[in-house]
Amino acid sequence: MKMVAFAGLLWSASVSFAGDEAVTYRKDIAPLWEQKCKKCHGADAPSLAEFDANKNEYKMLNKGPRMDSYPHMVQFVGWPDTGAIMRRLDDGKNTKDGKPGNMYINLGTNDEERQKNLGLFKAWVGEGGWVLKKFKDLTREELGKMQVPE
Ligand code: HEC
Repeated sequence: MKMVAFAGLLWSASVSFAGDEAVTYRKDIAPLWEQKCKKCHGADAPSLAEFDANKNEYKMLNKGPRMDSYPHMVQFVGWPDTGAIMRRLDDGKNTKDGKPGNMYINLGTNDEERQKNLGLFKAWVGEGGWVLKKFKDLTREELGKMQVPE
């Protein structure tokens, strides 16, 4: 059963990523962000520093830090909020408590869509538990595997 599900995932991954063409920010992640994340992480949202300084206020307004460009977005992959994207988007398979990250729900209206879009983020950032790690826990090898092509 496991193998069948896995083969199915691989198949749908290769279909949605159009063969072996690399997933990039401009081609894949930006349009997905526009659809699923923009309303709370757009240009009207605070910078990460501003958000961190007034977290409770922004949470009440349902605004997260802005992620409306490549440099803004990679703050949540590489630095300073290393691993935040994948910790928040994980479906629970790589989190410590087995619960999905609290942004997973925003990836789609049903689990099929959420899995497909999570697959897109995984193809962009990398795959495995290390993509959820904080900077201090990453090894040099893992750092070297970070991709996030623009
Ligand atoms: C309905 C509003 C909403 C949507 C849609 C949404 N988010 Fe969020 N997001 C928030 C809020 C509010 C926070 C801050 C509160 C928190 O930490 O949970 C947040 C926090 C985050 C964080 C943590 C940032 C940090 O530094 O603490 C990440 C990463 C994130 N969101 C990614 C995403 C991604 C990627 C999407 C699209 C797939 C998305 N979010 C969609 C409202 C939203």
